Order: sequence, then C-alpha cells, then structure tokens
Amino acid sequence: MEFTAIKGFKDILPEEVASWQRLESTARRLFEAFGFFEIKTPLLERTELFSRGIGRETDIVSKEMYTLKDSKGRGMTLRPEATASVVRAYIQNRLYQKNPIQKLFTVGPMFRHERPQKGRFRQFHQINAELFGDPGPRSDADIIAMAMSLFESIGFSGLSLNINSLGCQQCRPRFKSELKEFLLGKIDSLCVDCRRRSETNPLRVFDCKVETCNRIVADAPSILGFLCDACRNHFESLKDYLSRSGIPFVLNHQLVRGLDYYTRTTFEIQTDRLGAQNAVAGGGRYDGLVKLLGGPDHPAIGFAVGVERVVSLMAEEFSPEIKCPDLFIAALGGNSERESFQWVMDLRKYGLWVEMDYGSKGLKALMKKAGRLGAKKVLIVGENELSSGIGLLRDMDTKAQEEVGLENIVTNLRKYF
Ligand code: HAM
Repeated sequence: MEFTAIKGFKDILPEEVASWQRLESTARRLFEAFGFFEIKTPLLERTELFSRGIGRETDIVSKEMYTLKDSKGRGMTLRPEATASVVRAYIQNRLYQKNPIQKLFTVGPMFRHERPQKGRFRQFHQINAELFGDPGPRSDADIIAMAMSLFESIGFSGLSLNINSLGCQQCRPRFKSELKEFLLGKIDSLCVDCRRRSETNPLRVFDCKVETCNRIVADAPSILGFLCDACRNHFESLKDYLSRSGIPFVLNHQLVRGLDYYTRTTFEIQTDRLGAQNAVAGGGRYDGLVKLLGGPDHPAIGFAVGVERVVSLMAEEFSPEIKCPDLFIAALGGNSERESFQWVMDLRKYGLWVEMDYGSKGLKALMKKAGRLGAKKVLIVGENELSSGIGLLRDMDTKAQEEVGLENIVTNLRKYF
C-alpha cells in the first residue's frame, strides 16, 4: 500500500520553502518594526473556545472543525484560526497587566474541513497579528497599514483593500432586523442553510457560497446606512487615516467576514489572480471577544495572511535563488576520506556548505557528483596530496586549478569564501 497525504493536506517541498521563508522573515522584520512580539499557542484547544468565540452559526464552527474527544470525553479542536487562541492566551496569562497595549503575532498551521480547491486547503498556514487594548480608529489604520506594508515589502502590487464597518451592539440590531425582513421576503429562493440563518444570524447569509443566495444579498440593505454616530465617526476617521497614508481602499458593505466576533471595522486584501479564493488577508476589530471569553472588557483588532495563497503568487513573480555547496571535497582513498571528513566538519562550523561523498569513488565519479550538486569549488585530495601536504583546488566555473596547503587547510580555504 502506498501512503498519500490526506485530502486537503499537502507537503511543502524544499523548492517552495524559500518563498515561505522569505514571506515569514519579511513579516517578522516588519511586524517587529511595528512593535509586535511573537506568541506561540497550542494547536489543540477546548472546542468551546472556538464555538463560543467564532460563533456556532458560522460555517467554521458548524461544519469545518476537526474535533476529537479527550479521555474524559471533553471536546478538543485543532485550531481553525488563531485569534480565539491568542485571546485565550492574553486572558490566561494576564498579558494586559504587563502592558495595556499588547501587540502579538503568531505564525503556523490552521485546520478547516472545507472542500479543497485552488487556494483552499484543510491544513493551511496563517501569519496572524493581533493588537489589544486600543479602541480608536488609529490602531485600525496602523494594523491595516502593517498588512499592506507586508505585501509591498514582498513586491506585490495590484491588491485591493476592501473595508466595511459592522457597527456595534447599539446599531447592528437595527440593521439585523431590517436584513431579516429583507431575507424573509425572499425566503423561498434561499438555500436551506440560509433559511435558517435568516432567522438565527442573518449576517451569515452574506458568507453563503450558493450562487442564488449571493444574487439575493447583492440587493440587500447596506449596513453603512445603519451605523450609529460613534461607529460612523470611527469609520470616517479610519477612512481619513488611510487616505492620509496614501492607502487606497474600496468600500464593500457586504464584507461581513465569516466569523461572528467582528465589531466595527472589517477588511480584506484581495487579488484578482487567484480565482474564487481571492482573499490573501482578512481581519477586523473584535471589541467584545476578550470579554466574551471571560477576560476584561478590552478592545482588539487583528488580521491574518493566508500563507499558501501568498506563496503561490510569489512563485509566479520570483524565482528563488538556487543554493549550491561552496565546496566539495573529492577524497580519494581511505586516509584522505578520514582526514577530509574532519575538514568538512570544521569548515561547516564557519557556515560554509561543504560536501563530500559518503562512499568511496574514483575521481571521475566524484567530479561528476560535484558538478551535479553545483559546487563552486572542489578540493581534490588523494594519497599523493596527503603525503606532499598540498591539495588541488579547482574552480568549477573557470576550471582553473591551484595548489593549497593541507596543513591549516581550514584557514587556507576560508580565504576563498
Ligand atoms: P479568515 O478570513 O478566516 O480570518 O482567514 C484569513 C486568511 O487565511 C484568508 O484571507 C485566507 O488568505 C487564508 N485562509 C482561510 N481559509 C483558508 C483555507 N482553507 N485554505 C487556505 N487559506 C485560507 C481569520 O482566520 C481571522 N482569525 C483573521 C483575524 C485575525 N481577524 C482578526 N484577527
């Protein structure tokens, strides 16, 4: 039997890893410049954390979670997103006592049992940033600017920033009842799920993937017409900050995002190069979540970047540098092999990529191997060279050969790299 990876789970092969590392290291450098610190949380959490945090009516919680039971029969779920976990860690470790503004980022895999397709996997990776403790629009602008800067830093252009406001506990109920009324008027044309959602959580109808439901909500009322003064001012201020920072945006009143915790600002960064899965990052404000999960009443805002989607676009634009060994030691005969093994170890301590063969081969085969690896230089050492104390160093580009002393070989060779 040949094993293959589980559907929706994929291997990330060495040739793709260069783009992953480039994205992650760019994010780390940039986020640190914005004052964010990395946090790592467990992949498994109590199921209740997600069902309460993300919302029972969302697709993520109702259909997509990988849940298992512990020995006491309690539900544990592989995290479908990072925000609820980071909020749990923020509360449990009382991070707010150390600093009233906490800026945290986390990088790692998430798990959602969705239908796999281009840009959509069951295990995928996010770079996730969360800012706790500030309710104002400037932190919204700051976090959106950070997300946009990340894409700029990796050389992406042509992305579209969509923004919306989902209002607050004061103004959203009025919108919800208006939307509910609108949906009830079309109830027979909605899918079974949306008929239920129209009653229980009408905003979720905007997330539906069924074509007829999409057509219906295209004519739905806009939440932007229902914002209270405080929410409208917040949103106007955000727009003003974005404009002043030269960050273009598109107003998208249907951008409710698939998680129940959002309040006020939501945003998504989209590309037209990925087909249906067009969001490379998404986020928003979630002022009620810390309290909902048992913590103090602290506001927060954050976003997550979908690593696979970004990396697939990077692959179209950048050809990563191909790495090759600095040196190959072609050792001929038992004594040279034993000496060379020690030199390989010593040279690697200086960060040089040095290779030799694991077996015993003739010069022709060893040179062929060095060529296949793309080694920049080859040191040839046989019994004669060992007894004369002088090896031959060959430059694989120019084919020029020169002599190098084998006593102090590490010092002698380091001069070349
Ligand atoms: P999300 O929109 O569910 O938000 O996910 C954020 C990003 O993760 C998406 O824009 C997409 O690029 C990527 N993504 C989501 N699902 C998949 C999938 N199945 N396969 C591949 N990529 C995927 C969140 O997860 C929120 N926690 C973001 C957030 C942080 N909001 C506030 N703070």
